[in-house]
Amino acid sequence: MLTQSSAAVVSATLPAVRAHGEAITRRFYQRMFAAHPELLNLFNRGNQASGAQQAALAAAVVAYAGHLTDPDPATWGPVLDRIAHKHASLGITPGQYTIVGRHLLAAVGEVLGDAVTAPVAAAWDEVYWLLACELVAREARLYAAAGLPEGASVWRPWRVTDRRQETCDVVSFTLTPDDGGEVPRFVPGQYTSVAVDLDGGRGQQIRQYSLAGRPGADHWRIAVKRIRGTGGAPDGLVSTFLHEHVAVGDTLRLSPAFGEVSAVAGDGPLLLISAGIGLTPAMSALEHLAATAPRRSVVLVHADRAGTAHALRGDLPRLHAALPNLRTRLWYEEGDDAALPGVPAEVTGGRVDPELIPLSPDAHVHLCGPLPFMNIVRGGLLRRGVPVERIAYEVFGPGMLRDERS
Ligand SMILES: Cc1cc2nc3c(=O)[nH]c(=O)nc-3n(C[C@H](O)[C@H](O)[C@H](O)COP(=O)(O)OP(=O)(O)OC[C@H]3O[C@@H](n4cnc5c(N)ncnc54)[C@H](O)[C@@H]3O)c2cc1C
Ligand code: HEM
Repeated sequence: MLTQSSAAVVSATLPAVRAHGEAITRRFYQRMFAAHPELLNLFNRGNQASGAQQAALAAAVVAYAGHLTDPDPATWGPVLDRIAHKHASLGITPGQYTIVGRHLLAAVGEVLGDAVTAPVAAAWDEVYWLLACELVAREARLYAAAGLPEGASVWRPWRVTDRRQETCDVVSFTLTPDDGGEVPRFVPGQYTSVAVDLDGGRGQQIRQYSLAGRPGADHWRIAVKRIRGTGGAPDGLVSTFLHEHVAVGDTLRLSPAFGEVSAVAGDGPLLLISAGIGLTPAMSALEHLAATAPRRSVVLVHADRAGTAHALRGDLPRLHAALPNLRTRLWYEEGDDAALPGVPAEVTGGRVDPELIPLSPDAHVHLCGPLPFMNIVRGGLLRRGVPVERIAYEVFGPGMLRDERS
């Protein structure tokens, strides 16, 4: 709880902070990276360049201030969970909150100038630390649940035991712990962070990849789409590195599995909807159900550019054989493809029409794909009466979906 005097100051200054949010975070990053260049290895350079992360952090602090001063605050649990899981997968430590707090509050002072009197600075310091303490506590619980002793590194070396070119843009990697230890369990929908040392001394970069295989198997599997820069933008740093430089026998540093979104929620009908590389959580869900609940009723909806771009579809005949109540509905934008032997799929050309998605009234839905795709599909499902709390979704980048209910 914010003290009453701070709440009044925060309410009064919130519009100014909100209006200058982007300038504040830009200045914050400049200051912080100048003082702590080692943190450049932690943050995503693509997000820095495109401004995506600037917006995410600024938006979170400002939104939290609004939440603290709102007489009727919306629940913040899911937002905090998303951030805490992402932070845990990056190995964020409590000590780093002190660094971020110091530079963020100094940046507020620099950008807003004389408006930041001592009481204003103290009130925003309080907001920052209330949020930071909530995150630190959640992250501590996640580290403990992952079996990490206090202060232990999240990074563990894993050896690449198989590498497959799934489509022209997607490569899958099979990995086993290099220390010979146990393969941690995970819930379909969870991801691992992968840390790579870029060539040419360009430092470390970390990205998340959803686990695409079966929990309980003696290995982990990820599938990585190569991101090519368009319109003058550079190629993706980590996906290009993994495609070009990582072969069988190499080791990669991986975090434990984190992620608050389950792709196998409930025990009734399940609707898995994905587009492009967003299919990795759904594939893990199918592998899991084939081993643990083969009679569960599952609808798999997948959209892709073409059948040849549809990664991991070679696994579908085996999964259909193991899951008698699996129904597959495919949309291939560039036209319907030749039938897949062993897959009784309905295939349509063009883009997904949410009205045509086979829907059971009590289905739990898991959605993953590009944001515009998810907004359209989620909006359509809400209009068709699916309760909002039964639609789980994963965003393969910073941010969340806008609310389509209104
Ligand atoms: C929870 C989660 C799960 C994920 N699961 C998967 C998965 O299973 N498979 C998968 O393939 N991916 C997955 N991702 C995405 C993955 O983490 C990476 O974001 C993706 O591989 C791209 O990383 P990159 O380093 O190759 O690209 P980056 O270097 O991060 O670049 C990203 C984009 O930013 C653009 N960009 C970079 N610099 C600039 C600039 N200066 N100006 C303008 N634009 C710029 C690039 O052109 C590119 O389009 C997941 C993400 C999350 C958060
Ligand atoms: C109260 C303090 C903080 C808030 C409100 C905050 C907020 C956020 C948010 C909203 C995201 C995006 C989550 C998503 O994927 O949707 C994020 C990601 C991230 N945060 Fe934090 N954060 C805080 C503290 C920190 C600290 C202390 C560090 C470490 C120095 C840190 C490092 C990162 C990194 C590396 C990412 C991943 C995105 C990227 O690399 O660009 N954060 N944070």
